Amino acid sequence: MSPIREVIINKNTGINPIWIMRQAGRYLPEFREIRKKNTDFIQLCLNEKLASEITLQPLKRFDLDAAIIFSDILMIPYALNQKVEFKKNFGPMLGELDLKEVSKLDEIDFIEKIYPVYKAISLVSKNELTKGKSTIGFVGAPWTLLVYMINKQSPKLKLKNNFFKDEFLINRILILLEKFTKIHIKNQIENGAEVIQIFDSWAGLLHEKDLPNYIYIPTLNLVDYVKSLNVPVICFPRGIKDYKSYCEIVRPSAICIDYDVDPIKIQKEIKIPIQGGLDPKVLLSDKENLKKEATKYLEIFKDHPYIFNLGHGILPETNPEMVEYLVKIVKEFK
Ligand code: CP3
Repeated sequence: MSPIREVIINKNTGINPIWIMRQAGRYLPEFREIRKKNTDFIQLCLNEKLASEITLQPLKRFDLDAAIIFSDILMIPYALNQKVEFKKNFGPMLGELDLKEVSKLDEIDFIEKIYPVYKAISLVSKNELTKGKSTIGFVGAPWTLLVYMINKQSPKLKLKNNFFKDEFLINRILILLEKFTKIHIKNQIENGAEVIQIFDSWAGLLHEKDLPNYIYIPTLNLVDYVKSLNVPVICFPRGIKDYKSYCEIVRPSAICIDYDVDPIKIQKEIKIPIQGGLDPKVLLSDKENLKKEATKYLEIFKDHPYIFNLGHGILPETNPEMVEYLVKIVKEFK
């Protein structure tokens, strides 16, 4: 069994697998090289040859334990015919969502729009470089996708004032997202994804009273669905204040933590396998500090099933040499 599945399924505490969120991305010169010639990000994700090549780039350099497919959580709104663009130094920009049109979409229309993502997963999972490793598929949690679909851009610190105004619209979108996210998950698994991660990057924006409606219930539906397909599911509710309650209610196979939480408290409170935590900014400091900070996480989770990762995506300004050193620290930790 691959080390990541070994930690999640068998709760093995004797190994320290590592992968890095956004490991295929702008900090790698070989990615920037391809990106320069492919200015349309969505079309790049839909080019199965390049998408699989980009996915494998970090595995060629570093001894990582997983390949995460080069794609984006916004491929779902894209496949639902909402315009999605990525503007330099601005992030994603979405167009209007035509609810009437979306309601007419069926599974075949949806798959037709993004099938190269599944072909890329298949290419990656069959590649020699992923032998004995995990190919990770992913989706955005319904809440985070709802945020992008209504807010039309990253909310940064807060949502637009009238975000919750149209309750009918919100409920319709959540129902559609559940249906199509399940289809997206199923197809990723059928094409070789052996772990699914659910990214809820904007979980931290909600008040506690809204968590059941927008996060707990919709995410639990997806978690149960992934489990019914016999595949482990890692949830990453970034910025959520109460990870313990989240785990008890949503019951993921493993939980990924952000860099704002106290790992000691998490280790005490949470019994399921844990992933991540290290602040990506630590990779911008020096090797000595990186070793100190990474070892802190390894020590805290020494007797806990733990997958090493960061507490959010790796920053574009990271020096790949620091990643190489981090992998070495994790692999040599005893
Ligand atoms: O982790 C990986 O290597 C796999 C690929 C991956 C990408 N996006 C590629 C990408 C994954 C897992 C994602 C998830 C994603 N996408 C999330 C959840 C994780 C998180 O970061 O909170 C979110 C919120 C998105 C939406 C999104 N996509 C944003 C906000 C941006 C712009 C951010 C930025 O740094 O400019 C993207 C673009 C994006 N997705 C890039 C990559 C490599 C950068 C594209 C580029 O300009 O080259």
